[in-house]
Amino acid sequence: MGKNILNEQLSALIKNEPDNLANMANTSAFLMQFIENINWAGFYRYAKENDELVLGPFQGKIACVHIKNGQGVCGTAFKKQKTQRINNVHKFPGHIACDAESMSEIVIPLGEFGVLDIDSPIENRFSTQNQLMIEELANTFIKTLTKH
Ligand code: SME
Repeated sequence: MGKNILNEQLSALIKNEPDNLANMANTSAFLMQFIENINWAGFYRYAKENDELVLGPFQGKIACVHIKNGQGVCGTAFKKQKTQRINNVHKFPGHIACDAESMSEIVIPLGEFGVLDIDSPIENRFSTQNQLMIEELANTFIKTLTKH
């Protein structure tokens, strides 16, 4: 795979900023601005006390706030700690529909921190190549995580 310019830009945007909230906010705005044909991009954070994911900074339409660990595409990605790349969300058992326009979805686990979720109004939007690129972006975000 060639040089990931987007990854370099994201890294420059967040690497010197220690505030996780600010970095989540700017990362979701960055994804929405530079990835074509998406309608939602943002974070869900894992809350251990309730064993659930809770909505974090995002760009897009209003979304569901609480997602049980293991539920929907996000909960599955978190529980399995494995990227979920779904070509047609309507065929995914337990998919949680937040924006009716969403047709395909990619969710990257971020370890104990939570997940990064990106939705598209187009079926089959995310290729394996896109997945690798987005996983690199997620990894750049993980590297900036601080203890507070
Ligand atoms: N569709 C997700 C829920 C989050 S929204 O897409 C923003 C899911 O099934 O986990």
